[in-house]
Amino acid sequence: MQEINKEKQIVCVTGAGGYLASWVVKFLLSKGYVVHGTVRDPCDEKKNAHLKTLENAAENLQLFKTDLLDYEGLFAAIAGCTGVFHIASPVPIHSTVLNPEVVLLEPAITGSRNVLNACMKAKVKKVVVVSSISAVVMNPYWPKDQAMDENCWTDTEYCKSIEVTNDKCRLEGDFHESTKFWYRIGKTIAESEALEYARRGELNLITVCPSNAIGPMLQSSINASSLLLLDYMKGERDTVENKDRPMVDVRDVAEAILLAYENPKAEGRYICSSHKIRTQLLVEKLKNMFPEYNYPTKFTEVKDGVKLNSQKLQNLGWKYRPLEETIIDAVKDFEESGLLNKPISDVAK
Ligand SMILES: NC(=O)c1ccc[n+]([C@@H]2O[C@H](COP(=O)([O-])OP(=O)(O)OC[C@H]3O[C@@H](n4cnc5c(N)ncnc54)[C@H](OP(=O)(O)O)[C@@H]3O)[C@@H](O)[C@H]2O)c1
Repeated sequence: MQEINKEKQIVCVTGAGGYLASWVVKFLLSKGYVVHGTVRDPCDEKKNAHLKTLENAAENLQLFKTDLLDYEGLFAAIAGCTGVFHIASPVPIHSTVLNPEVVLLEPAITGSRNVLNACMKAKVKKVVVVSSISAVVMNPYWPKDQAMDENCWTDTEYCKSIEVTNDKCRLEGDFHESTKFWYRIGKTIAESEALEYARRGELNLITVCPSNAIGPMLQSSINASSLLLLDYMKGERDTVENKDRPMVDVRDVAEAILLAYENPKAEGRYICSSHKIRTQLLVEKLKNMFPEYNYPTKFTEVKDGVKLNSQKLQNLGWKYRPLEETIIDAVKDFEESGLLNKPISDVAK
């Protein structure tokens, strides 16, 4: 496989202003890449200010206005690029999403096809697509005692069958589980289609499947996975579910994405998850480190036991931080940005 020479190499990052993508843009710029970042509104100062202040951004970052459903806009950003990092996809912050097929599925699936077709037309040399463990873990047929690896795929028919049983919750006004399932279906179809482009020899393409990413935010508004952590510290919910939480530092995910791009030996799919912790243990850790905040006191047991195996990524040279370092950096960031002083309803608008 061809070596990637990053000296002034032009690459495109979709959804550049998002939580994970901002770290990828930061690392790319610091390594000397020229970055074409796609954003939905380049004039939105609040959303993009953090990108403009990144090291080397003034000379090497150009923002392109496009939506995932706008093929021509995507092609304009991708044309002339050696590599593409497809990271944009809807990640719902609210548990209530009306029309999930339109809001969650279409940008995930049609949006990904648009990006990949533009990559083919522009003769892009390498593509990294960010998928999710949501495309891995919903598989009732995987042996219970075996850690899930890259051969394990979410079964979309199984997701749909659960979706039917969730109709009851929906009628009762609880969209949360339903929303998650549509997200999972979108990520699974988008990733499997992306790997088909590679199998057919149309693109040199790698996928990376991160678990819940936490850690400091570069962007100014909260994202869904950071909210998960913040939510435990606000004292707004006394009872939470006690379940397995596979986690990874957002900076380690960004490093994994760059590694997958730069290492010529990378191939196929990579699970990217470093730690697994039960909710109650996570809350206890937070409480020991930051006793001044209000935490849930009651936990309802959920039996899950998902085990993930990131050995393939580690064999490629991936390293990750201890969970404590991630938690400390995340909470310090919440403190500095004043997020711990506002009600959740104000934070997650
Ligand atoms: N964070 C995690 O725990 C985690 C875990 C596994 C996988 N992932 C994946 O990582 C990627 C980034 O997620 P994130 O956590 O960084 O979430 P995020 O901060 O919400 O970023 C999502 C990005 O996608 C963009 N986007 C959404 N719909 C779009 C559309 N129709 N057209 C153009 N752009 C669109 C958003 O743009 P706007 O800012 O304009 O809305 C935003 O830049 C996603 O593919 C997600 O599935 C994240």
